[in-house]
Amino acid sequence: MSKTQFAEDVKEGLNSTPKRLSSKYFYDAKGDKLFQQIMQLEEYYLTRAELNIFQTQSQHLLDLFDSGGAFRIVELGAGDGMKTKVLLKYFQQKGADFSYCPVDISANVLEDLKRNILAELPHLKMEPLAGDYFKVLSELKFQNHKRNIAFFLGSNIGNFRKDLAIAFLSSIQQNLAKGDFLLIGFDLKKDPKRILSAYNDSQGVTRAFNMNLLQRINDELGGDFDLEAFDHNPIYDPMTGECRSYLIAKTPQKVHIKELNASYEFRAWEPIYMEVSKKYDLDEIADLAESTGFRVRENLFDQEQLFADSIWEVV
Ligand code: TRP
Repeated sequence: MSKTQFAEDVKEGLNSTPKRLSSKYFYDAKGDKLFQQIMQLEEYYLTRAELNIFQTQSQHLLDLFDSGGAFRIVELGAGDGMKTKVLLKYFQQKGADFSYCPVDISANVLEDLKRNILAELPHLKMEPLAGDYFKVLSELKFQNHKRNIAFFLGSNIGNFRKDLAIAFLSSIQQNLAKGDFLLIGFDLKKDPKRILSAYNDSQGVTRAFNMNLLQRINDELGGDFDLEAFDHNPIYDPMTGECRSYLIAKTPQKVHIKELNASYEFRAWEPIYMEVSKKYDLDEIADLAESTGFRVRENLFDQEQLFADSIWEVV
């Protein structure tokens, strides 16, 4: 990601009313580390729940995927691939004919992933692709001679605004052929207290993850954000299922950002909108599938029913 793009997005976000910053800039080297820590937290149930689905239902997934012969898994935003590795390993043990194509915005992440996966599964057929999902998708020509199964895990769809979620899923649909699948992870609506604590953990890791973006603006764009003067404030709305995170200015203040040649005034208790993590129910999942050219083939749940991996087919 270029520095000028980062600068432009920060400028646009801080000039908006209400102010906002884009969560895509959470993931620098420090952000990647903090996110790894989030996934280990007791309160952050999402990763374990999805892993539980893969661990307990791998044969069922294999039966679905290889019913037409050879297949290819295209994982959008693969990250460390930890969850998918469980499936790949199982599929390989069973002698399935498949290849794995992880896509990630970070070339470094992909290099690590490749090394890490091949260390454990040296014979795996792997074709990594670096790039923004939207760009990669438009370039990616899905091969039609084998079934493609797109993976979009971790409730990442929950971080999209509704119109963008629809545009994104529609563009996946257009790049798939009839008979292909999308396996997509949704965090389910549940006790609001449980959801909120996943985004407001007691050790303050999620707070540090959000604050890191202010630090990044200071380091890379010459900003003078006083991190102590902001508070991390996530809220959950059970009506919409949206968990939204804000950083809130505790006092009136002015922040100068050298690279942008600009200063920004904050009122006392003025929020900066950082990110949404939307939680779904099964009706909303079915509606989303239908409005983007898919049909829900099946929903798989973890043993606690916290999370769903929904398997969609192209109609
Ligand atoms: N998509 C996941 C989620 O919504 C991971 C994630 C994205 C996340 N941004 C986050 C987790 C911010 C914690 C805080 O939960």
